[in-house]
Amino acid sequence: MRIAVIGTGNVGSALGRRWADAGHEIIFGSRDPASDKVQALLRSIGHNARVVSAGEAMAGADVIVLATAWSAVQPTLAAGGDLTGKIIIDATNPFLPGLILAVGHTTSAGEQVAAWALGARVVKAFNSTGAGNMADPVYAGVQPTMFICGDDASAKATVADLTGQIGFEPVDAGPLSLARVLEPLAALWVNLAYSQGMGPNIAFKLLQR
Ligand SMILES: NC(=O)c1ccc[n+]([C@@H]2O[C@H](COP(=O)([O-])OP(=O)(O)OC[C@H]3O[C@@H](n4cnc5c(N)ncnc54)[C@H](OP(=O)(O)O)[C@@H]3O)[C@@H](O)[C@H]2O)c1
Repeated sequence: MRIAVIGTGNVGSALGRRWADAGHEIIFGSRDPASDKVQALLRSIGHNARVVSAGEAMAGADVIVLATAWSAVQPTLAAGGDLTGKIIIDATNPFLPGLILAVGHTTSAGEQVAAWALGARVVKAFNSTGAGNMADPVYAGVQPTMFICGDDASAKATVADLTGQIGFEPVDAGPLSLARVLEPLAALWVNLAYSQGMGPNIAFKLLQR
């Protein structure tokens, strides 16, 4: 599958590396493809990955992963042109300083992405755990839960498959409006990791009986 990963920071680099290792074609979208940082990332991945502008990356992709600061999402999507039919994985969290959500309660970043990328099939995923878990998810043989949500069943099935391929247990939380609770869940993870002192080696697991 051809996956455009927009953003080459903590989340983008971790997910791009894992999916390149799984055999997918990764096209990173970066503001500065020639930068030392981005070129070093490509060298360290070593295979199945290249970098272009965000607009070019999105144009040729089956799946687009949004892994930028929330403030960059709208201009990034605008650079992608017509995204009709494409699957967008929205991994962003609309955090302001102090873990305050810039949007929430009656809408969400995920729903806002869907409004900006008209016709695209948006799935919220990978927002509610740390980038370190994306790089190395499994805890003593146990796969963490990755909650996903979206309004398009086939897009969710594709994202669930991609999620499972890199070591998470995907759980379908429902329609895209469930991003309203998955985005605050990310705030809980960050609070536990960094304010409560548990550190980033923590992950959520859904139990069922
Ligand atoms: N860090 C985590 O553990 C984590 C976990 C889950 C979700 N998230 C969410 O995922 C998103 C990315 O987080 P991150 O930690 O990967 O961030 P990051 O390390 O700061 O990387 C974000 C990347 O976005 C790109 N970008 C494009 N336009 C930008 C702009 N105007 N300002 C800043 N960066 C811009 C940059 O790549 P180029 O320089 O190549 O353009 C940058 O490296 C955020 O929305 C965050 O809330 C983070």
